[in-house]
Amino acid sequence: MILKYIIILNISQEIELTKQKINKLDGTLRIVGDKSISHRALILSSISTGKSEITNLLESDDVVSTINILKNLGIKIRKKNKKWIVHGNGTNGFIQPKKALNANNSGTTARLLIAAVSPNPIYCIFIGDKSLSKRPMSRITHFLQKTGADISLTNENFLPLTILGTNNPLPLSHKITKPSAQVKSGLIFAALQTNGTTTIYEKRKTRNHTELMLDYLKITHKKTKYSVAGQKIEITGPQEIRSKNYVIGGDPSSAAFFIVAGLITKKSSIALTDVVINKTRVAYISILKKMGGKIRIKKTKIHSGEQLGTIEVSSSSLKGISIPAKLSPYLIDEYPILAIAASYAKGTTTMKGLSELRFKESDRIKSICTNLKMCSVNCKVIGNDIIIKGSKIILGSKKVIRTYDDHRIAMSFYILGLVSNLPMKLDNEECIRISYPNFKKDLKKLIVK
Ligand code: S3P
Repeated sequence: MILKYIIILNISQEIELTKQKINKLDGTLRIVGDKSISHRALILSSISTGKSEITNLLESDDVVSTINILKNLGIKIRKKNKKWIVHGNGTNGFIQPKKALNANNSGTTARLLIAAVSPNPIYCIFIGDKSLSKRPMSRITHFLQKTGADISLTNENFLPLTILGTNNPLPLSHKITKPSAQVKSGLIFAALQTNGTTTIYEKRKTRNHTELMLDYLKITHKKTKYSVAGQKIEITGPQEIRSKNYVIGGDPSSAAFFIVAGLITKKSSIALTDVVINKTRVAYISILKKMGGKIRIKKTKIHSGEQLGTIEVSSSSLKGISIPAKLSPYLIDEYPILAIAASYAKGTTTMKGLSELRFKESDRIKSICTNLKMCSVNCKVIGNDIIIKGSKIILGSKKVIRTYDDHRIAMSFYILGLVSNLPMKLDNEECIRISYPNFKKDLKKLIVK
């Protein structure tokens, strides 16, 4: 029996100690809707003609930012009987917003929507919070400027930015060299509203939810192989998109926190249902299996073009491994929780080529290692690689964990707190709302005292 403490930070930001005994995790849980798919379903519904109903939309702060911006762009969106109803205005149907469009903390909201409005002759101001205002936007805007959109960025790379869209965008060939599903998806949304054929080259394939939705919506497009690991996508627009309903599967990146919790706690056995098991999202499961994790995936159903499944997990003795740089586009959101698994594994884990982690909600190389070191975990950074020497004894930290207001850092260290000797204190639990408002409630459902 492990005697555990979980710290709850209440709204007044005072640290409160709650004593809990955690024997194991047990039971079945349905994970919240996928964040990437939720953003895309809302945007594609908005540029479709007619009404779409979205079931199991993720209701987190990031997705609410997308909903609010779409409403400001003239789209009618409301919730009825647990479903979200979107009345699409068709392609090129966005109207001039009356106020600045606030993406808050959400990079996906900003990048996808800046691109989606660019072929509409409207003037928009995009803003974000402190963290988002430090994240690069030129990776999407430099493509859009070539199509004819007039965009001014702060210091040529950041929010706030202004965009005057064009009603005569050029259909161009875009070559994406730095893998990014946000950039690819944004360019697809622009292409659907552009007269002529847009060609998008991805040097290395990234998460493919947008392409699967194009198939689901029967939108004409052509995908061919490009280079060794890439693809070429051709879309001729403007297209009329007939509205369809969506059912959103569970978020595999959110499931990752429970999977690692199940692996590192003793005598645990859990099942996560209706999770999106799209290959471009579950590479981290192969990594955890290589580390010795007992994980089984069973395919169940297909919803809105995405394969769903049940993921079964039981307590395991993990061992360290080396994770090559070429896998980084497929593990990008899971490195923080993989670092937690590595901390509790026998031997050394090396995570290579993580430069993109520096541009996430926080500099995740820094936020992972600063906090692990504070918990007495042996963690080293060499350039953009992280090296962790694991141990079955996690001391924990007397000092408060610095989340840097990053939801995935907060949830990762919450999970480390399940096996640490000292109770884990987080400086901000509110940020978890960005992707998983009910994270703590859901975790509690599985905890056997
Ligand atoms: C996302 C793409 C990834 C990922 C982000 C969500 C998406 O970002 O890290 O959390 O929904 O397209 P990049 O496109 O910057 O790799």
